[in-house]
Amino acid sequence: MSPGTAWIDNLVSVCLEEFGGAEVPRVAVAPGRVNLIGEHTDYNDGWVLPMAIDRRIGVAFAPRGDRVLRVHSVVFDETRELSIDELAPPGGSEWISYVIGVAWAMSSSGLGVSGADLVVDGDVPLGSGLSSSSALVMATALAMCEVSSIPWSPVEMALLGQRVEREWVGVQGGVMDQFTATMAQEEHALLLDCRSLSHSPVRFPDESMVVVMDTGAPRTLAGSAYNERSASCRAAVEGLQNADPGIRALRDVTTDFLEANRELLDETTYRRARHVVEENARPLAMADALSSGDLNQAGRLMDESHFSLRDLYEVSSRELDLFTDLARDHAACYGARLTGAGFGGCAIALVSAEGAEDFMQSTHSCYRSRVDLPSAVFACRPVSGARLLDL
Ligand code: GLA
Repeated sequence: MSPGTAWIDNLVSVCLEEFGGAEVPRVAVAPGRVNLIGEHTDYNDGWVLPMAIDRRIGVAFAPRGDRVLRVHSVVFDETRELSIDELAPPGGSEWISYVIGVAWAMSSSGLGVSGADLVVDGDVPLGSGLSSSSALVMATALAMCEVSSIPWSPVEMALLGQRVEREWVGVQGGVMDQFTATMAQEEHALLLDCRSLSHSPVRFPDESMVVVMDTGAPRTLAGSAYNERSASCRAAVEGLQNADPGIRALRDVTTDFLEANRELLDETTYRRARHVVEENARPLAMADALSSGDLNQAGRLMDESHFSLRDLYEVSSRELDLFTDLARDHAACYGARLTGAGFGGCAIALVSAEGAEDFMQSTHSCYRSRVDLPSAVFACRPVSGARLLDL
Protein backbone atom coordinates (compact mmCIF):
# COMPACT_ATOMS: atom_id res chain seq x y z
CA MET A 1 0.00 0.00 0.00
CA SER A 2 1.10 3.58 -0.44
CA PRO A 3 0.18 6.82 1.35
CA GLY A 4 -3.50 7.64 1.09
CA THR A 5 -4.47 3.98 1.15
CA ALA A 6 -6.50 2.15 3.75
CA TRP A 7 -3.96 1.55 6.50
CA ILE A 8 -3.14 5.24 6.75
CA ASP A 9 -6.79 6.31 7.04
CA ASN A 10 -7.20 3.57 9.61
CA LEU A 11 -4.23 4.96 11.58
CA VAL A 12 -6.09 8.21 12.18
CA SER A 13 -9.34 6.46 13.19
CA VAL A 14 -7.48 4.15 15.59
CA CYS A 15 -5.73 7.15 17.15
CA LEU A 16 -9.09 8.82 17.76
CA GLU A 17 -10.65 5.59 19.08
CA GLU A 18 -7.76 4.70 21.38
CA PHE A 19 -6.93 8.11 22.73
CA GLY A 20 -9.85 10.44 21.91
CA GLY A 21 -8.62 14.00 22.06
CA ALA A 22 -9.89 17.24 20.59
CA GLU A 23 -7.37 17.49 17.74
CA VAL A 24 -7.45 15.45 14.55
CA PRO A 25 -4.19 13.46 14.60
CA ARG A 26 -1.59 14.08 11.93
CA VAL A 27 0.55 11.41 10.29
CA ALA A 28 4.31 11.12 9.74
CA VAL A 29 5.63 8.41 7.41
CA ALA A 30 9.11 7.06 6.68
CA PRO A 31 10.07 4.45 4.07
CA GLY A 32 11.79 1.08 4.32
CA ARG A 33 14.78 0.53 2.06
CA VAL A 34 16.72 -1.91 -0.01
CA ASN A 35 20.45 -1.54 -0.21
CA LEU A 36 21.53 -1.89 -3.84
CA ILE A 37 25.15 -2.47 -2.85
CA GLY A 38 27.74 -1.65 -0.17
CA GLU A 39 26.80 -4.19 2.49
CA HIS A 40 28.39 -4.11 5.96
CA THR A 41 30.45 -1.12 4.84
CA ASP A 42 28.56 1.62 6.69
CA TYR A 43 29.96 0.84 10.15
CA ASN A 44 33.41 0.70 8.53
CA ASP A 45 33.13 4.36 7.48
CA GLY A 46 32.59 3.22 3.89
CA TRP A 47 30.26 3.77 0.93
CA VAL A 48 26.70 2.52 0.47
CA LEU A 49 24.08 2.80 -2.28
CA PRO A 50 20.61 2.26 -0.77
CA MET A 51 17.22 3.20 -2.17
CA ALA A 52 14.05 3.96 -0.17
CA ILE A 53 11.09 1.84 -1.31
CA ASP A 54 7.36 2.47 -1.56
CA ARG A 55 6.62 0.61 1.68
CA ARG A 56 6.31 2.77 4.76
CA ILE A 57 5.82 2.93 8.50
CA GLY A 58 3.33 5.58 9.60
CA VAL A 59 2.87 7.23 12.98
CA ALA A 60 -0.38 9.09 13.72
CA PHE A 61 0.31 11.62 16.43
CA ALA A 62 -1.48 14.11 18.64
CA PRO A 63 0.16 16.36 21.23
CA ARG A 64 -0.59 16.07 24.96
CA GLY A 65 -0.15 18.75 27.57
CA ASP A 66 2.13 16.61 29.81
CA ARG A 67 5.29 14.44 29.70
CA VAL A 68 3.48 11.19 29.00
CA LEU A 69 3.78 9.03 25.89
CA ARG A 70 0.91 6.74 25.01
CA VAL A 71 1.79 4.42 22.14
CA HIS A 72 -0.44 1.92 20.32
CA SER A 73 0.67 -0.60 17.71
CA VAL A 74 -2.00 -1.66 15.23
CA VAL A 75 0.00 -4.73 14.16
CA PHE A 76 0.55 -6.02 17.70
CA ASP A 77 -2.74 -4.60 19.05
CA GLU A 78 -0.91 -3.39 22.12
CA THR A 79 -0.83 -0.08 24.01
CA ARG A 80 1.88 1.21 26.37
CA GLU A 81 2.00 4.32 28.50
CA LEU A 82 5.13 5.80 30.04
CA SER A 83 6.68 8.99 31.30
CA ILE A 84 9.43 10.64 29.24
CA ASP A 85 11.27 11.53 32.48
CA GLU A 86 11.68 7.90 33.53
CA LEU A 87 13.45 6.59 30.44
CA ALA A 88 16.88 4.96 30.85
CA PRO A 89 18.77 2.56 28.55
CA PRO A 90 19.03 -0.29 27.70
CA GLY A 91 15.66 -0.42 26.06
CA GLY A 92 15.38 -3.89 24.45
CA SER A 93 14.43 -4.69 20.87
CA GLU A 94 10.64 -5.14 20.82
CA TRP A 95 8.60 -2.74 18.64
CA ILE A 96 7.87 -0.20 21.40
CA SER A 97 11.55 0.11 22.14
CA TYR A 98 12.20 1.87 18.84
CA VAL A 99 9.46 4.39 19.61
CA ILE A 100 10.43 5.25 23.16
CA GLY A 101 14.12 5.10 22.24
CA VAL A 102 13.47 8.17 20.09
CA ALA A 103 11.97 10.09 23.03
CA TRP A 104 14.96 9.05 25.18
CA ALA A 105 17.52 10.03 22.52
CA MET A 106 15.86 13.40 21.93
CA SER A 107 15.53 14.31 25.58
CA SER A 108 19.03 13.06 26.46
CA SER A 109 20.38 15.26 23.62
CA GLY A 110 18.85 18.27 25.31
CA LEU A 111 15.89 18.62 22.94
CA GLY A 112 12.78 19.58 24.88
CA VAL A 113 10.34 16.79 24.00
CA SER A 114 6.64 16.98 24.82
CA GLY A 115 4.22 14.15 25.58
CA ALA A 116 2.18 12.65 22.74
CA ASP A 117 -0.36 10.03 21.76
CA LEU A 118 1.07 7.88 18.96
CA VAL A 119 -0.39 5.08 16.83
CA VAL A 120 1.92 2.99 14.66
CA ASP A 121 1.24 0.86 11.59
CA GLY A 122 2.75 0.29 8.16
CA ASP A 123 3.34 -1.98 5.21
CA VAL A 124 7.10 -2.59 5.46
CA PRO A 125 7.44 -6.32 6.17
CA LEU A 126 8.75 -6.60 9.74
CA GLY A 127 12.11 -8.13 10.61
CA SER A 128 12.93 -9.09 7.03
CA GLY A 129 15.89 -6.82 6.28
CA LEU A 130 13.96 -3.92 4.72
CA SER A 131 14.67 -1.69 7.68
CA SER A 132 11.21 -1.46 9.20
CA SER A 133 12.85 -0.48 12.50
CA SER A 134 14.62 2.57 11.07
CA ALA A 135 11.43 3.56 9.26
CA LEU A 136 9.64 3.37 12.62
CA VAL A 137 12.38 5.35 14.35
CA MET A 138 12.46 8.10 11.74
CA ALA A 139 8.66 8.41 11.44
CA THR A 140 8.49 8.65 15.24
CA ALA A 141 11.28 11.25 15.26
CA LEU A 142 9.37 13.37 12.75
CA ALA A 143 6.18 13.05 14.80
CA MET A 144 8.01 13.94 18.03
CA CYS A 145 9.66 16.96 16.39
CA GLU A 146 6.22 18.17 15.28
CA VAL A 147 4.54 17.79 18.69
CA SER A 148 7.53 19.38 20.39
CA SER A 149 7.94 22.27 17.90
CA ILE A 150 11.49 21.18 17.08
CA PRO A 151 12.58 22.06 13.52
CA TRP A 152 13.11 18.92 11.40
CA SER A 153 16.74 18.44 10.52
CA PRO A 154 17.03 15.19 8.51
CA VAL A 155 20.78 14.56 8.89
CA GLU A 156 20.86 15.37 12.60
CA MET A 157 17.80 13.19 13.11
CA ALA A 158 19.32 10.28 11.14
CA LEU A 159 22.31 10.41 13.51
CA LEU A 160 19.93 10.51 16.46
CA GLY A 161 18.17 7.45 15.01
CA GLN A 162 21.52 5.67 14.86
CA ARG A 163 22.01 6.45 18.57
CA VAL A 164 18.66 4.80 19.30
CA GLU A 165 19.87 1.64 17.57
CA ARG A 166 23.29 1.67 19.23
CA GLU A 167 22.62 2.93 22.72
CA TRP A 168 18.97 2.06 23.34
CA VAL A 169 18.51 -1.18 21.37
CA GLY A 170 22.16 -2.28 21.63
CA VAL A 171 22.98 -3.07 17.98
CA GLN A 172 26.23 -1.53 16.74
CA GLY A 173 24.74 -0.50 13.39
CA GLY A 174 25.88 2.10 10.86
CA VAL A 175 23.90 5.09 9.67
CA MET A 176 22.73 3.81 6.27
CA ASP A 177 19.16 2.89 7.16
CA GLN A 178 18.30 6.01 9.13
CA PHE A 179 19.95 8.25 6.54
CA THR A 180 17.98 6.62 3.73
CA ALA A 181 14.73 6.91 5.68
CA THR A 182 15.20 10.68 5.99
CA MET A 183 17.25 11.77 2.95
CA ALA A 184 16.17 9.56 0.05
CA GLN A 185 14.87 11.19 -3.14
CA GLU A 186 12.14 9.98 -5.45
CA GLU A 187 13.32 7.98 -8.48
CA HIS A 188 16.89 7.93 -7.14
CA ALA A 189 19.20 5.71 -5.16
CA LEU A 190 21.41 7.49 -2.63
CA LEU A 191 25.20 7.26 -2.85
CA LEU A 192 26.40 7.93 0.70
CA ASP A 193 29.86 8.28 2.15
CA CYS A 194 29.31 7.09 5.72
CA ARG A 195 32.44 8.88 6.98
CA SER A 196 31.81 12.40 5.72
CA LEU A 197 28.04 11.93 5.23
CA SER A 198 28.41 13.55 1.82
CA HIS A 199 25.83 12.09 -0.51
CA SER A 200 24.46 12.35 -4.00
CA PRO A 201 21.37 11.04 -5.76
CA VAL A 202 21.84 8.43 -8.50
CA ARG A 203 19.02 8.27 -11.00
CA PHE A 204 17.52 4.79 -11.14
CA PRO A 205 17.15 3.69 -14.79
CA ASP A 206 13.53 3.58 -16.02
CA GLU A 207 14.05 0.42 -18.05
CA SER A 208 14.86 -1.67 -14.96
CA MET A 209 13.26 -2.56 -11.64
CA VAL A 210 14.29 -3.83 -8.28
CA VAL A 211 12.40 -6.93 -7.21
CA VAL A 212 12.41 -7.81 -3.52
CA MET A 213 12.52 -11.54 -2.81
CA ASP A 214 11.51 -12.21 0.78
CA THR A 215 12.76 -15.67 1.74
CA GLY A 216 10.19 -15.91 4.53
CA ALA A 217 13.02 -16.92 6.88
CA PRO A 218 12.94 -14.53 9.84
CA ARG A 219 15.92 -12.62 11.13
CA THR A 220 16.34 -10.47 14.16
CA LEU A 221 19.19 -8.05 13.94
CA ALA A 222 19.66 -7.69 17.69
CA GLY A 223 19.83 -11.44 18.22
CA SER A 224 22.07 -12.09 15.22
CA ALA A 225 25.79 -12.22 14.67
CA TYR A 226 25.75 -8.58 13.56
CA ASN A 227 27.67 -7.29 16.58
CA GLU A 228 30.14 -10.14 16.16
CA ARG A 229 30.84 -9.02 12.57
CA SER A 230 31.39 -5.43 13.63
CA ALA A 231 33.76 -6.64 16.39
CA SER A 232 35.75 -8.57 13.73
CA CYS A 233 36.09 -5.38 11.71
CA ARG A 234 37.42 -3.52 14.74
CA ALA A 235 39.86 -6.39 15.39
CA ALA A 236 41.03 -6.15 11.76
CA VAL A 237 41.65 -2.41 12.15
CA GLU A 238 43.64 -2.98 15.35
CA GLY A 239 45.74 -5.66 13.67
CA LEU A 240 46.44 -3.55 10.59
CA GLN A 241 47.33 -0.51 12.69
CA ASN A 242 50.55 -2.37 13.54
CA ALA A 243 51.57 -1.76 9.93
CA ASP A 244 50.02 1.69 9.59
CA PRO A 245 48.86 3.54 12.73
CA GLY A 246 47.00 6.01 10.50
CA ILE A 247 44.27 3.49 9.72
CA ARG A 248 41.03 4.51 11.46
CA ALA A 249 38.59 2.14 9.82
CA LEU A 250 38.56 -0.55 7.10
CA ARG A 251 37.59 2.27 4.77
CA ASP A 252 41.24 3.34 4.92
CA VAL A 253 42.58 -0.02 3.75
CA THR A 254 43.33 -0.98 0.12
CA THR A 255 43.30 -4.54 -1.21
CA ASP A 256 47.06 -4.42 -1.82
CA PHE A 257 47.73 -3.24 1.72
CA LEU A 258 45.48 -5.94 3.16
CA GLU A 259 47.22 -8.64 1.13
CA ALA A 260 50.68 -7.37 2.08
CA ASN A 261 49.77 -7.45 5.77
CA ARG A 262 47.60 -10.52 5.81
CA GLU A 263 49.78 -12.26 8.42
CA LEU A 264 48.76 -9.64 11.00
CA LEU A 265 45.22 -11.09 11.04
CA ASP A 266 43.83 -14.51 11.83
CA GLU A 267 42.13 -16.26 8.89
CA THR A 268 38.53 -15.36 9.83
CA THR A 269 39.35 -11.72 10.56
CA TYR A 270 41.22 -11.53 7.24
CA ARG A 271 38.20 -12.84 5.30
CA ARG A 272 35.83 -10.40 7.03
CA ALA A 273 38.21 -7.52 6.22
CA ARG A 274 38.62 -8.62 2.63
CA HIS A 275 34.87 -8.53 2.07
CA VAL A 276 34.63 -5.01 3.48
CA VAL A 277 37.62 -3.66 1.55
CA GLU A 278 36.43 -5.07 -1.79
CA GLU A 279 32.76 -4.26 -1.16
CA ASN A 280 33.64 -0.67 -0.39
CA ALA A 281 34.60 -0.09 -4.03
CA ARG A 282 31.29 -1.43 -5.36
CA PRO A 283 28.85 1.42 -4.55
CA LEU A 284 30.90 3.88 -6.64
CA ALA A 285 31.23 1.36 -9.48
CA MET A 286 27.51 0.60 -9.31
CA ALA A 287 26.61 4.30 -9.32
CA ASP A 288 28.68 4.67 -12.50
CA ALA A 289 27.03 1.63 -14.07
CA LEU A 290 23.51 2.86 -13.26
CA SER A 291 24.26 6.39 -14.47
CA SER A 292 25.61 5.13 -17.78
CA GLY A 293 22.78 2.60 -18.17
CA ASP A 294 25.17 -0.37 -18.06
CA LEU A 295 22.77 -2.76 -16.36
CA ASN A 296 24.87 -5.83 -17.13
CA GLN A 297 27.76 -4.34 -15.20
CA ALA A 298 25.41 -3.29 -12.36
CA GLY A 299 24.13 -6.87 -12.18
CA ARG A 300 27.65 -8.32 -12.19
CA LEU A 301 28.57 -6.14 -9.23
CA MET A 302 25.49 -7.34 -7.35
CA ASP A 303 26.40 -10.98 -7.97
CA GLU A 304 29.98 -10.40 -6.81
CA SER A 305 28.69 -8.69 -3.69
CA HIS A 306 26.45 -11.65 -2.87
CA PHE A 307 29.23 -14.19 -3.34
CA SER A 308 31.49 -12.16 -1.09
CA LEU A 309 28.81 -11.91 1.61
CA ARG A 310 28.25 -15.64 1.30
CA ASP A 311 31.86 -16.82 1.23
CA LEU A 312 33.92 -14.17 3.03
CA TYR A 313 31.57 -12.36 5.39
CA GLU A 314 29.38 -15.44 5.92
CA VAL A 315 26.06 -13.69 6.48
CA SER A 316 24.01 -15.43 3.80
CA SER A 317 21.68 -18.39 4.34
CA ARG A 318 20.50 -21.43 2.38
CA GLU A 319 17.28 -19.60 1.43
CA LEU A 320 19.05 -16.39 0.34
CA ASP A 321 21.49 -18.41 -1.80
CA LEU A 322 18.67 -20.40 -3.37
CA PHE A 323 16.47 -17.38 -4.16
CA THR A 324 19.36 -15.46 -5.71
CA ASP A 325 20.48 -18.52 -7.74
CA LEU A 326 16.96 -18.96 -9.09
CA ALA A 327 16.82 -15.24 -9.90
CA ARG A 328 20.05 -15.41 -11.92
CA ASP A 329 18.62 -18.29 -13.96
CA HIS A 330 15.91 -15.99 -15.37
CA ALA A 331 16.65 -14.14 -18.60
CA ALA A 332 15.27 -10.83 -17.28
CA CYS A 333 17.69 -10.76 -14.33
CA TYR A 334 20.91 -8.73 -14.45
CA GLY A 335 22.07 -9.71 -10.97
CA ALA A 336 20.89 -10.61 -7.48
CA ARG A 337 22.12 -10.34 -3.92
CA LEU A 338 21.00 -10.42 -0.34
CA THR A 339 20.12 -6.98 1.01
CA GLY A 340 20.59 -5.61 4.52
CA ALA A 341 22.38 -7.43 7.29
CA GLY A 342 21.68 -10.95 5.98
CA PHE A 343 21.15 -14.03 8.20
CA GLY A 344 17.76 -14.56 6.48
CA GLY A 345 15.29 -11.91 5.36
CA CYS A 346 15.25 -10.45 1.84
CA ALA A 347 17.29 -10.57 -1.33
CA ILE A 348 16.91 -8.24 -4.32
CA ALA A 349 17.24 -8.70 -8.04
CA LEU A 350 17.85 -6.08 -10.72
CA VAL A 351 15.57 -7.01 -13.63
CA SER A 352 14.43 -5.52 -16.91
CA ALA A 353 11.12 -3.70 -16.48
CA GLU A 354 9.50 -5.62 -19.33
CA GLY A 355 10.50 -9.03 -17.95
CA ALA A 356 9.64 -8.22 -14.32
CA GLU A 357 6.18 -9.85 -14.19
CA ASP A 358 7.36 -13.13 -15.62
CA PHE A 359 10.49 -13.00 -13.45
CA MET A 360 8.43 -12.61 -10.27
CA GLN A 361 6.01 -15.38 -11.14
CA SER A 362 8.44 -18.01 -12.27
CA THR A 363 11.22 -17.32 -9.75
CA HIS A 364 8.81 -17.31 -6.85
CA SER A 365 7.03 -20.47 -7.94
CA CYS A 366 10.38 -22.34 -8.21
CA TYR A 367 11.37 -21.06 -4.76
CA ARG A 368 8.02 -22.04 -3.24
CA SER A 369 8.25 -25.54 -4.66
CA ARG A 370 11.51 -25.97 -2.72
CA VAL A 371 10.95 -23.97 0.47
CA ASP A 372 7.91 -24.12 2.72
CA LEU A 373 8.08 -20.65 4.29
CA PRO A 374 5.83 -17.56 3.96
CA SER A 375 7.90 -16.09 1.14
CA ALA A 376 6.89 -13.16 -1.09
CA VAL A 377 8.11 -11.15 -4.07
CA PHE A 378 7.28 -7.61 -5.05
CA ALA A 379 8.67 -4.94 -7.35
CA CYS A 380 9.54 -1.60 -5.83
CA ARG A 381 10.43 1.88 -6.98
CA PRO A 382 12.54 4.59 -5.30
CA VAL A 383 10.63 7.07 -3.12
CA SER A 384 11.58 10.05 -0.97
CA GLY A 385 12.39 10.05 2.76
CA ALA A 386 10.33 10.83 5.88
CA ARG A 387 7.54 13.37 5.55
CA LEU A 388 4.27 14.56 6.97
CA LEU A 389 1.18 13.59 5.04
CA ASP A 390 -1.53 15.97 3.94
CA LEU A 391 -4.65 14.02 4.77
C1 GLA B 1 21.71 -3.37 8.89
C2 GLA B 1 22.23 -2.14 9.62
C3 GLA B 1 22.92 -1.18 8.62
C4 GLA B 1 23.96 -1.93 7.79
C5 GLA B 1 23.38 -3.20 7.20
C6 GLA B 1 24.43 -4.04 6.51
O1 GLA B 1 20.69 -3.00 8.00
O2 GLA B 1 21.19 -1.45 10.27
O3 GLA B 1 23.48 -0.12 9.33
O4 GLA B 1 25.10 -2.19 8.54
O5 GLA B 1 22.75 -4.01 8.18
O6 GLA B 1 24.96 -3.36 5.41
